[in-house]
Formats: sequence, structure tokens, C-alpha cells
Amino acid sequence: MEKDLQAIVDEANHLLVSVSNRPEWDNAKALILGPNGKLTQLGKGIGKLTKEERPVFGQKLNHTKKQVENIFKSSLSLIDEKEDLESLGAEIDSSLPPSSNFTGGTHPLTNTRRKIVSIFRKIGFTVAEATEAETEWFCFDALNTPEDHPARDEQDTLFLPRDSKWNNVKQKNDEAYVLRTHTSSVQIRSLINEKPPLRIIAPGRCFRRDTVDATHSANFHQTEGLYVDKNVTLKDLKGVLDFFLKELFGNQVETRLRPSFFPFTEPSFEVDLRAPNIGKLSDQWIEIMGCGMVDPKVLKLVELDPKEWTGFAFGMGIERITMILHGIDDIRHFYNNDLRFLRQFNQSS
Ligand code: DAH
Repeated sequence: MEKDLQAIVDEANHLLVSVSNRPEWDNAKALILGPNGKLTQLGKGIGKLTKEERPVFGQKLNHTKKQVENIFKSSLSLIDEKEDLESLGAEIDSSLPPSSNFTGGTHPLTNTRRKIVSIFRKIGFTVAEATEAETEWFCFDALNTPEDHPARDEQDTLFLPRDSKWNNVKQKNDEAYVLRTHTSSVQIRSLINEKPPLRIIAPGRCFRRDTVDATHSANFHQTEGLYVDKNVTLKDLKGVLDFFLKELFGNQVETRLRPSFFPFTEPSFEVDLRAPNIGKLSDQWIEIMGCGMVDPKVLKLVELDPKEWTGFAFGMGIERITMILHGIDDIRHFYNNDLRFLRQFNQSS
């Protein structure tokens, strides 16, 4: 019987030499290890042996079974490897060098965000973050944006299902959750959590129900800024923004504040800038961000006394700034992951 065991090992090896795909392998395995396979049949003969012979043969049988199983296993991995190569349609020559030495880099929006943050860090601002899924209260009400304001229209805002499980978002009553439409909600979270004096910069992702075109994306990025302290004036706001825009765009930049309206600032302004050296926009005034003095109503809503505290806030689009900085004419380039575009901003981090 021992001879028979060795013969089965030899037969397995012999069969597998001509096996080249999975069905053939299955057949070969059935011939040896299947319920009617040779090894299984041989095992059944154990009953004919004497009591003394049985354990000795049993041990040898198990050993042979393991040996044969291993032979089949390694044959299968060769078949799998061969089939993988065939599905790639080509033989792989692993000795070839890589096709380029491009090692990857940071995204242009990341570069801009880092620049903005590092400029504000120089003048004592710290980075604040908050959740992207917000309640309507943080996104609108606390920012003095009444129910009938167009920004709260479903056209602009992406609402989340009411039964969603956003446990990390503080829920007030039975409010709807929204994907934040701006980073201004971070103003409120910071004022509540940290209390003034406060100097924060809050970069992050925002969402709106916008139809995608060259200047709109349903998902985009903003940076919010907030400075609340005693006796903060419009002069401080102008000084901080002048400094920031000169650092970002160069010393030749001129800035101006143009009266505007935002529900959470009073007075409110758009900031325009002009510089001789900004791409195609040379010497034209361009709108770059919104800002204003924090509306006393907002301070009251977060239980701060507007007689004691004053402040300014500002908000800008990171995509817009990057487009101006680099003369990019279509916002969609940022999200297409086309390496021909991205490689141009390959600054290592
Ligand atoms: N949240 C505004 C927007 O998304 C931008 C903005 C304007 C932010 C004025 C501010 C501000 O903090 O003071 O359009």
C-alpha cells in the first residue's frame, strides 16, 4: 500500500504537468482527491488492515494527502498568475524602469489653502474647523439669515434626510440638517466653544445645489476669517485684508472696499483688488472676497454682549483665488484629476 501512496503522488505530479487552466485543474484534483479519487479510495482500504497496521498506514496516508494538496495548491497559484497576465493582454516585464519619475505633488487648491493659512498665522490667527454637515441653526439662523432668505431656498442648499445619524452635530429641536453652504458656520461654533478674544481662519469644504459650469461647482472650498475682541474697528479689517492680499498677490496690489450686504455683517463689503501683474486681469478691479463688521445681532445670538465685544469677518473662495493666481479659466479643471493640469502645480509639500 505504501507503494500505492507514492504512485499517487507521482500521478498527481504527472497530471498537473499538462494542466493549463482552472477547469483542467479541477478535473485533475477530482481524480486524486475527490470523493471517488484515487487517494480517497485507497484510504477506504484501511479497514482491511490489521489493528497494528492501521495507525501506521493512517499516518502515512495523512502525510501523503498533505503532500498532494500542496502540489495542487502551488499548481493553482501558477494557473492564477498566468490567467492574470493573460487578462492584462500583455506579458509584464518587471525589469523595465517606471514610465516616469513623477513622484506626485500637492493639489493647487491645497497649495492655496496652505498659503492663506500661513499668511494669517503670521498675524496671530489659528486654524478652526467644524463639521461639514450642519444644522440650519449654525448655517443660517445664528448668522442672522432669516427663514425667507434666498440662501435658504432648497435651490441653493443640499438638505440631508431628517432621520440621518449625524451624532457629532449638535441638534436643536427637530431641525433639518444641511451640507454647509459656506464656512461662516465655523464662526458660530468657534464663538460658542472658545469665547473671545478670538482670531480664527477656517478653511473647508462647502456644498451648494449649483449646476456645474466654468465657474460653479456643487462642491467647493472657502476660507472664513473671524476676529472678535474689544474695540475692533473697520480700520483693523482694512489693515488685515491689505496685508493678506499683498502677501498673497504681491506688493503692487491695491484694494478697495465696496459696500455690499451680508446678513451676518453690518456694514458689509465686497473686497476688490487691482494689480498690474495678475495674469489677464492686469489693472482691472476684480472682486475677491466678502467681509464686514460682525453684526451685533450675531453676537447676541451666541450670548455675547455687543457693547463689550466687536469684530470683523471675511470669507473667500479658495477656487476663485487659485484661478486668479494662476490664470485658470474653468473651475472643473480642479476636479478632473487630469495629470497634464495637475503637474503644473507640482510643488512638493
Ligand atoms: N459666507 C459668504 C458667502 O458664502 C462669504 C462671506 C461674506 C463671509 C462676508 C464672511 C463675510 O465672513 O463677512 O458668500
